[in-house]
Amino acid sequence: MDEPFTILGISGSLRHASYNRALLIATRDLLPLDVVLDIFDLQGIPLFNQDDEKQPVARVTEFKERIRASDAILIATPEYNYSIPGVLKNAIDAASRPYGDSAWGGKPVALMGASPGAFGSARAQYHLRQVFITLDMPQVIQPEVMIGHADQAFDAKGKLIDANSAKLISQLVENLVHLSRQLKTG
Ligand code: FNR
Repeated sequence: MDEPFTILGISGSLRHASYNRALLIATRDLLPLDVVLDIFDLQGIPLFNQDDEKQPVARVTEFKERIRASDAILIATPEYNYSIPGVLKNAIDAASRPYGDSAWGGKPVALMGASPGAFGSARAQYHLRQVFITLDMPQVIQPEVMIGHADQAFDAKGKLIDANSAKLISQLVENLVHLSRQLKTG
């Protein structure tokens, strides 16, 4: 049997009851049979300091190894003050260093996000898309998964109950797998 296609899921929120972590967990129920989603918790990634980039802590080394071992990346993020949460940007920066040893190069990526506000993390997502350019990460453009009014999309236990969001996530994963396979086979 072929190896499963592995996606590394990263939440831009450390919050215990995070809607964005819940989105990644919900995605696990929407995967094609030959696809697995591992989730990497950004807890434990220290504030990046360039003085230490050549001797990273074990958690950063592990993060880079998990990125490299995966076929693709799926980020679920809120927006903080109209942009990328510091926790997520910090982790992206840490795994991009030292110069010449970025874990991100060439790794296909897809984006989604949820927010109790109306815009579903749209502004953070567009800022991330700019970051993917310098990281040389091929990105899935459509569908845009921006889940506004997240308090209505999830039930009290954090289960995704919005059918349209589930449909968009399924399509997003399908497009991520398709893009990755296209890139591998040329
Ligand atoms: C927010 N929140 C927020 N929401 C939004 O739609 N646009 C924004 O610019 C911001 N800014 C912002 C800044 C900071 C510092 C915090 C803590 C929060 C609200 C945010 O979307 C909400 O707390 C989400 O629930 C966070 O995502 P998780 O933790 O549920 O995944």
